[in-house]
Parts: sequence; C-alpha cells; structure tokens
Amino acid sequence: MNIQKCGIIGCGGVGATTAYTLVESGLFNEMVLIDIDKRKAEGEALDIGHGIPFTVPSDIYAGDYSDLKDAYLVVVTAGANQMPGETRLDISAKNAKVFRQIIPEIVKYNSECILLIVTNPVDVLTSLALKLSGFPAGRVIGSGTVLDTARLKYLLGKKFNLDYRNIHAWMIGEHGDSELAAWSSATVAGLPVDEYCRQHGRTRDSLQLNEIYEEVRDSAYEIIDRKGSTFYAVAMAVKRIAQALVRDEHSILTVSSLAQGHYGINHVCIGLPTVLGVNGAEDIIEIPLNAQEKEKLKESAAALSKIYHEVQD
Ligand code: LAC
Repeated sequence: MNIQKCGIIGCGGVGATTAYTLVESGLFNEMVLIDIDKRKAEGEALDIGHGIPFTVPSDIYAGDYSDLKDAYLVVVTAGANQMPGETRLDISAKNAKVFRQIIPEIVKYNSECILLIVTNPVDVLTSLALKLSGFPAGRVIGSGTVLDTARLKYLLGKKFNLDYRNIHAWMIGEHGDSELAAWSSATVAGLPVDEYCRQHGRTRDSLQLNEIYEEVRDSAYEIIDRKGSTFYAVAMAVKRIAQALVRDEHSILTVSSLAQGHYGINHVCIGLPTVLGVNGAEDIIEIPLNAQEKEKLKESAAALSKIYHEVQD
C-alpha cells in the first residue's frame, strides 16, 4: 500500500477539480485518473500535470483499473450529475448501475484501499459501495455532509461576523433535502448558540438561523440553476477528508459512514460526526440532539434506507 498514491474514478467536473485540488495540496505523490473516456482522463492529467512545477513534485497520469493497485485512497466521482430540477435521490438508480460496474473493477485490483464516494446520492451509493466491495465499514466512506457543514459554518460566520473556525455547528443526515442542522450542539467559542444569541440580545429566530439552514440545504440547487453543476467546494471537501485520512489526524468530519446503532440507526450510511484516521472511519460521535432533531435524523435515515433498498439489487 502506497499511502501517497490516490486514484480518482471519473474525470467530470468534480473528478477533475478534485484531481487539481489534491495535486495542489501535495498530499499524494502519485495520482491515477480513470474515466470511461480515456482521452478525457489523459487530457485532464496533462493539463494538471503541466502545473506540477508550480507546486510540489508528484506524478499524475491517466490509467486503467489495474493501475489502482497499491493506491491508499480511491475517490469515486463517476456517474450522472443532478440536473436542474432533479433531486440527488432522483439519480440513484442511474448511478447505482454505474457503481455495479466500477466498484467490482476497483476491488479486483485493490482490496486494501479506502473508498471515498462522492457521486450522488452519496449516502445511498456509499451504502452500495460498502455492499459491493465487501470492505470493512471503516474503509468505505462518503463525502456526506462535510460540504454542508462547511456551508453552515461559512454562513454562520458571516451572520455573526466571526471566524467560522470558532463556530462548531454540524449538518447531519442525508447529503440532500432531508438533512438537518444540529442546533442543539452548535457552539460559538464554546457557548451554546442560543446563549451566544441571548448575550447579544438576539434569538435564533431574530437572527433567521432557520433561513441559514434552508440556504445550506438548497445550496446545490441554487448553484446548479446558475452554472449547471457544483464542483469547487466539494473538491475542497474531498481534500479535507483526504488530509484527515493521510495525516492520521483523528479529526471529526461529517462523512457518510455506516451507522451501527447510533441514534437507533442501522444498516445505512449517513452523515454523522465521524473520527477519521489513517485506517478510515474509526468512530461515530453521538453529539447531543434534542427530541425533534433525533426524529428528523431518523426520518432522514428512513428516506435513505427506502432508496437504498430500491437500488441495492
Ligand atoms: C453539492 C453537491 C456535491 O452539494 O451535492 O454541491
């Protein structure tokens, strides 16, 4: 296993931007790009590769599944994009079919890697990749609500005029319409968010925090309506996840991983605060949730389970 080797399946907007972002990060010294359109993969590898002299030395090339051997991390972005007016769950059957082809191909050449699923609907496809790969649960994760959590912190930072790094707030559940903001666990400099608001003579309502949640939940629709797809922020989210893995950080990120009784949820991959280290997902932290949040999380899990059972066979 070469911990500095990464493979990316799919060289569309997300895959190519992820490749560029990871090369710029210097996390890996070897990257193989795989796409059903080999010339597209070659073009992306050439274009990104010519920029390597401006960053740290590494090698990026277009390859085949056999080139994935000894890769530590394989990022899967292949599949159809959500089109204007489509929900992420609408494209589940289409992309499940793609996964039934590509996951076995990956496993044929590399049964030791960590699989990082990005293709939407990411939670359903992470569950499917876990089943198709036969890997232990910790080695199959999805980008989950890592991007959504970043969007929430970014918007709260703007609202409070504070550095988002001093705001701890999580989006959990489906990376999609049924996700929720875990306000019960949100803090500003360690202060519960409601206390922070009170100290500034405000309330959650007067600060329109629910509107911020809705803006986060609907972000992708707004971007897709304007530019056709999203790829920059999700690529940066993938980079953050890869950092936590490669550096064995034991950082807590809301990746999609297999819930095993957490909040009473089983048999589905879903976005929850997860400890990430060099071996993958190590633990899920059950952050405090109020009764309403627990109910919404279970509803989100049920929505994912329903779709997963429709596409798993
Ligand atoms: C988004 C895509 C990655 O939320 O689902 O931008």
